Amino acid sequence: MDGIAHTLQSRNITTFRIEVFVLNRSSLLIIYLKLNFTVILADQKSNQIPRYCIFESLNWNMQTPVEGFSKLSKEEKIQWIAHNCTKHPEATKKLLQQYWNADPQLQTVHDEFIENTLSNYYLPFAVAPNFLINGKLHTLPMVIEESSVVAAASKAAKFWHSRGGYIAKVLDTEKVGQVHFMFHGDKEALHRFIAQIRPKFFEDTQVLTRNMQKRGGGIRDITLKDKTNTLPGYFQLHCTFATLDAMGANFINSCLEQFAKTLEREAEAHGVGLEILMSILSNYVPNCLVRAEVNCPVYEEESNSGVSLNFAERFVQAVAIAQAEPYRAVTHNKGIMNGIDAVVLATGNDFRAIEAGVHAYASRKGQYSSLTHAQIENGQFKFWLEIPLALGTVGGLTSLHPLTKLALEILQDPSAEALMQIVAVAGLAQNFAALRSLVTTGIQQGHMKMHLLNLLNQMGASAAEKKELIGYFTDKTVSTAAVKEGLELLRKK
Ligand code: MEV
Repeated sequence: MDGIAHTLQSRNITTFRIEVFVLNRSSLLIIYLKLNFTVILADQKSNQIPRYCIFESLNWNMQTPVEGFSKLSKEEKIQWIAHNCTKHPEATKKLLQQYWNADPQLQTVHDEFIENTLSNYYLPFAVAPNFLINGKLHTLPMVIEESSVVAAASKAAKFWHSRGGYIAKVLDTEKVGQVHFMFHGDKEALHRFIAQIRPKFFEDTQVLTRNMQKRGGGIRDITLKDKTNTLPGYFQLHCTFATLDAMGANFINSCLEQFAKTLEREAEAHGVGLEILMSILSNYVPNCLVRAEVNCPVYEEESNSGVSLNFAERFVQAVAIAQAEPYRAVTHNKGIMNGIDAVVLATGNDFRAIEAGVHAYASRKGQYSSLTHAQIENGQFKFWLEIPLALGTVGGLTSLHPLTKLALEILQDPSAEALMQIVAVAGLAQNFAALRSLVTTGIQQGHMKMHLLNLLNQMGASAAEKKELIGYFTDKTVSTAAVKEGLELLRKK
């Protein structure tokens, strides 16, 4: 046995802690006692990582700093976490291991996505079929933990299938990156200097851009921006890129860092006093824009090809509220992101980048507002969305995660532009489904069905019990207490 750690901590006010470590079979026993203060009875150099624990650890709320954690093996990390941060170390270890993939090679793929990986965190991978987009049927892969989202997407797909489907169009695909620097001299001279060295930015990045250029992408433009009205001395090189099917973060950041080096070198050579601060892509991409739309005739009554006037009017009003009122707009847009994030995650794209960019876009006019728009004009109901989406279908996680590859295959291996259209449609569909519920039956009816199932699962109901109680609650209000009572009654029968 390499080591034994045992920590006791009393549950009353006086802190009482004993730790016992055995470094190896023949080595010394280390005892360290803490009674509101710590008495170290022996060298406790290696007390950071208890190798084996003979009792359940009680020191989960008494963490001490750990050094070199990243260098530990996965098993050692789990050991440390289990004993230092959890109430039941043995159960923790078992749980983390339970979620390892049975195939060690596949597990390694996942371990290596990030640092300090202990296990896998499952999210459901689902699909929503019947999305007619620009006349072609699609099944959308969705990764999301929230119940009802996939059901809502499927419903919205079906609803619009008989009404002409979704129309989507990419308006532009421009990506952005900036080199931020400080300059306090003659502004006109700076403009002349940047214009003079401009070709060098392109020359110096040739090795990086060659391949992208061959396929029609690369650096679009580099402009000097005077931002001194926002911050004294602040200037930037505002750079735009075309990254084709790649999201392009690495490509853009590499180009930007080279621009910064070129700028620094040339400034020094020309005696221009400037200080480069940082170079990084921007997740605000207002010109990487896609539009998705649905439209259909408005009739007195709803039919397979149209919507009722009453519904259309209530719907348009609901969108108008989200346009006028930020409190509502945030929730309205959150519903849109339910659909967008789910497809973005399934296809291995960076949902934080998408979220940040989309919400910035929603506030571009100075007030946070709805991302969707609706109108009734000449007897036609029209509902649309315009959002910035910097997505990729090659590189990054898209080529590493087996389920991401499958998601892209399900989507018929789309180009980045095709994926932008699909994702925008997912957002529009989700918003349509939410608003349709909100202005008609209310949202809880659908939600509660899934909530009931979640509650029954939490309460350990069997398949037969679930079936019985789902039937029982069709015309009753679902609450934790009511479900508990219903299950108890059923079990007493
Ligand atoms: C819930 O995840 C999303 C909704 O709140 C969106 C909305 O209110 O429009 C239902």
